Amino acid sequence: MQSTIAVLMAMLFSGPALAQGPSERGRALLEEFCARCHALGKTGASPHETAPPFRRLGRSFDLDEFAVKLQQGVLAGHPDMPEFKFKEDDARAIGAYLRSVQE
Ligand code: HEC
Repeated sequence: MQSTIAVLMAMLFSGPALAQGPSERGRALLEEFCARCHALGKTGASPHETAPPFRRLGRSFDLDEFAVKLQQGVLAGHPDMPEFKFKEDDARAIGAYLRSVQE
């Protein structure tokens, strides 16, 4: 019985579920809301010249705290940047993606 559970767990946490993991979702969200100004990936310049590429956010922010900020919607304050607010799951997914691309 216990081994059946182990096999089920292994199936849950592997395969296609991983390919669609949180960081993929995080990237999709950033692409939708942020990519017109910020560079998302490990290379490339931001379309908006003063917007920092996301791979450098880890230099100025603790990325865990950043995920919390995304839920509180406190990112505004930059003239060119609209305010955003994300649900907890989405904010966590974005945090996971950001961690995966840091320099
Ligand atoms: C319309 C353009 C635009 C969009 C869309 C945009 N940003 Fe920005 N963002 C900027 C600009 C410009 C700056 C730099 C502002 C400055 O430093 O004065 C910036 C700065 C930032 C910073 C750095 C703030 C700091 O104090 O160092 C973070 C973090 C950030 N953006 C996150 C995001 C996220 C997350 C999204 C999507 C949810 C997003 N931005 C969407 C234009 C944008």
